[in-house]
Amino acid sequence: MRSGRTELKGRHLVEPGDFSIEEMSGLFSLAERIEADPAYLRESCRGKLLATLFFEPSTRTRLSFEAAMLRLGGSCLGFAEPGSSSAAKGESLADTIKTVSCYADAIVMRNPKEGAAVVASRYASVPVVNGGDGGHHHPTQTLTDLLTIRRLRGRFEGLTVGFCGDLKFGRTVHSLAKALSRYTGVRMIFISPPELRVPDYITRGGLAKAGVEYRETDRLEKVMGELDVLYMTRVQRERFFNEEDYIRLKDSYILTMEKMAAAKDEMIVLHPLPRVNEIALEVDADPRAAYFKQAKYGMYVRMALLSSILGVV
Ligand code: NCD
Repeated sequence: MRSGRTELKGRHLVEPGDFSIEEMSGLFSLAERIEADPAYLRESCRGKLLATLFFEPSTRTRLSFEAAMLRLGGSCLGFAEPGSSSAAKGESLADTIKTVSCYADAIVMRNPKEGAAVVASRYASVPVVNGGDGGHHHPTQTLTDLLTIRRLRGRFEGLTVGFCGDLKFGRTVHSLAKALSRYTGVRMIFISPPELRVPDYITRGGLAKAGVEYRETDRLEKVMGELDVLYMTRVQRERFFNEEDYIRLKDSYILTMEKMAAAKDEMIVLHPLPRVNEIALEVDADPRAAYFKQAKYGMYVRMALLSSILGVV
């Protein structure tokens, strides 16, 4: 069987389902190879340009993409502040994308509008990677999350994964739940206040149809001991309609060492970051806290992704 990577040349990544399990697995193997030998692929993107178009704030996604491209020997251009682009003059996304396609070999875009990435992919003549579209999807965070689980737990099959926090607006949750539903025997527990429950299109519209075992609760303590992976998320302030609701819900869950005491020894805690208040700083020293390792794996998997869609590997 081919690795799957070669077929990724020129492809867009808008949502996790765009790549097959085999293609993702090929990317994880490549990321692991890069991690083991940082010199591998070092100059492979020499002469290639990556455009990073960020219409919303970002630290990890943008910088890890830029670090990935620079480590592959390529270069980056773009904006991190939409006010400095012609979007501020009223230019359409289609026109921006058609223009940037003339300059760059691939585009990573983050946009507050759900569906913006699929629109961009229709107008681009180079591969488009979705760096987050509103509360919808964030497929490269999913690649990061899956690689972290694979590295630290060795498999996906049969794991019980708890998602905790803002499951309504948290795009990383939507993408990861969808991706994990493709592996056999993964159980999911969604832990959120009733107002921030995971959308129906993910649960009844997706997981139930795929035959995935899942349940919902508002009590983290009740399920802690069952989990193999705990995926914490922040309450997505920027997607709330009013500040009072945000203030009421923002501290719904705070993971402390006291709560960690009920967890399995081999459970891992993931968080896409940024953390606001939902994981107490004391947890960082626990060996089960994996969120900063996760940020590092994010760079390796983006190196694997870029070299594959640019067709240099
Ligand atoms: C996430 C995002 O932007 O959706 N951050 C990230 O990319 N690592 C999570 C978040 O903002 O809460």
